[in-house]
Amino acid sequence: MNRLTRGRGLLFGGDYNPEQWPEHVWAEDVELMKAAGVNLVTVGVFSWARIEPEPGARDFGWLDRVMDLMAGAEIAVDLATPTASPPPWLGRRWPRTLPVDESGHRLWYGSRNQWCPSSPVYRERALAIVTDLADRYAGHPALALWHVGNEYGQFCHCDDSAAAFRGWLQHRYGDLDALNEAWGTTFWSQRYSEWAEVVTPRRAPYMINPTQSLDWQRFCSDALLACYRAERDVLRERTPDTPVTTNFMGLFKPVDYWSWAVEEDVVSNDCYPEPGDPLSPARTALTHDLMRGLGRGRPWLLMEQSAGAVNWRPHNLPKPPGQLRLESLQAVARGADGSCYFQWRASRFGAERFHSAMLPHAGPDTRLHAEVRAHGQELRKLASVAGQAVPARVAMVFCWESWWALEERGRPSDRLNAADQLLAYYVPLWERGVSVDVVPPSAELSGYALVVVPNLFLVSDRDAAALTDYVRGGGVLVVGPFSGVVDPRAHIRTGRFPSPLREVLGASGEEWQPVSGEVRCRWADGAEFTAHTWTELMAAEGAEAVAEFAGSGRPAVLRHRFGQGVAWYVATIPEPAALADLTARALADADVRGAVPDGARLPPGVEAVRRGDVLFLLNHGAEPATVPVPEPAEDLLTGAVADGLITLAPRAVAALRPHG
Ligand code: GAL
Repeated sequence: MNRLTRGRGLLFGGDYNPEQWPEHVWAEDVELMKAAGVNLVTVGVFSWARIEPEPGARDFGWLDRVMDLMAGAEIAVDLATPTASPPPWLGRRWPRTLPVDESGHRLWYGSRNQWCPSSPVYRERALAIVTDLADRYAGHPALALWHVGNEYGQFCHCDDSAAAFRGWLQHRYGDLDALNEAWGTTFWSQRYSEWAEVVTPRRAPYMINPTQSLDWQRFCSDALLACYRAERDVLRERTPDTPVTTNFMGLFKPVDYWSWAVEEDVVSNDCYPEPGDPLSPARTALTHDLMRGLGRGRPWLLMEQSAGAVNWRPHNLPKPPGQLRLESLQAVARGADGSCYFQWRASRFGAERFHSAMLPHAGPDTRLHAEVRAHGQELRKLASVAGQAVPARVAMVFCWESWWALEERGRPSDRLNAADQLLAYYVPLWERGVSVDVVPPSAELSGYALVVVPNLFLVSDRDAAALTDYVRGGGVLVVGPFSGVVDPRAHIRTGRFPSPLREVLGASGEEWQPVSGEVRCRWADGAEFTAHTWTELMAAEGAEAVAEFAGSGRPAVLRHRFGQGVAWYVATIPEPAALADLTARALADADVRGAVPDGARLPPGVEAVRRGDVLFLLNHGAEPATVPVPEPAEDLLTGAVADGLITLAPRAVAALRPHG
């Protein structure tokens, strides 16, 4: 990322699709980009058919002119490999490149993403065009970053995929006996007697074997990763100094980004908050923290967001004035070194003709474009933030494999979900301006004062032991319900649950008891709160019951001093206010405070986060908000000096650096 921001400051720009426009428009694009402070554009994402109009042909002339134009304007290019959307000729001539859904139906061209990750023909054709692209633009002065494919996430149930799945399973299990054992195929007469019988989890009369399904999700993520890596390797070999990324989609279930991020030079993400959802600011902050976690703390790139409304929800709300700036600065505050959009100029045709863009159909003399221009210029004032870290003393553990395993059919309740739990535990931290690193279960935890595990349904012995050691060594741990339930084969860990965490939690349970409505709970001091959806029949084994299910004497929240540390277990889904109380107590155990002085509560809707020596305050609320500032500070955005208190208008942002 340093290589990208050096001499440029924060990156600002978006997807640029000049192939949709006559060339005379390009000159206007460049002028307007310069006026808006654009310094990075993503080019070529969907240009396969344009570059290769028929099999084997190459038409790079137009792209040469685009690249030269950008070089002349000193706008860096994030050049995409065009492999996300093959031309129709690929599907027509080689129908086996087209993906097949779980019902066995082939999906056709006419949209995008119509390719099978395990198709040898797709892979060969994709690598051929990537190779020529890399050879052609290696050393081009505009080339700054490679953008591989787009939003990887497809899967396919065709015979080629089934064969690849079997190969993956053979590698994992060695022989069929081991697979039968891992999948528990004595259940429902599912035993496989030869490899040819093993298929992808195609549509079946009733619930699919959960371990087959889990392995399938692992395989799909790996198969796509293999496609990404093959392209990346071609690019690295030809342009070893040009960083490579592919755009993620936040908490996107199909792809295990922990295994992907290590294969990238820069982590980048696409983020489209729903303007009408009051939880969007916290959800977005969580996604940004995840991106920082994926990059092991390094700056990341907001590759796509919308300047106004999207067009793929049923009802698409525009962003009110100021929202574009607020959301962009939120990403910067949480570690992004660049804030980019889909897309530069709004399309006139195609499926996204009603999607907003930095330059609307109505032209540059518009409210929206004026905001874009002002924001692009303003970002220059934050150039010194580029490269700075966001320090956090709290970690939240999130695991894709556990997510997949949890959300199989046939569990006690389908209302307990991994991403919902993650957000629920994140919100009270966000509300207090406590910075959080999102980390995988295998992360080194000893540097954190507090580790929160909202749900870890699937856990390996090793990761459970690491959590136990973390507390023994003095850490504070909070574990949410239905954790530690299955092993990596998705087999139930027998005995009282959560068996691998029983020692550290000082408690164990014997029954999961979902509830249809709310249940009343009581803190030890008598104050009551409600919980919902989920309860567990637990017994303390050394832990103290800090809350119980009212009238039952059964613990609902447990706190256990263990070794040098403290472990909390939450055997239900508390209402938000109760989870906030619990979080405050765990923060006190860990001696962690938020970004504003003396643990002061932030006004509702105000976000506070430190990046380097800059304290960002963002008002997502509809009312002005007054916030205490820890020391005299200068607002890098306005030049004003704040001392004691600062008042933020709705959607206002301050970037405060200690003054003097
Ligand atoms: C992204 C995608 C872009 C564009 C955008 C619209 O998912 O990468 O190509 O489709 O959404 O919001």
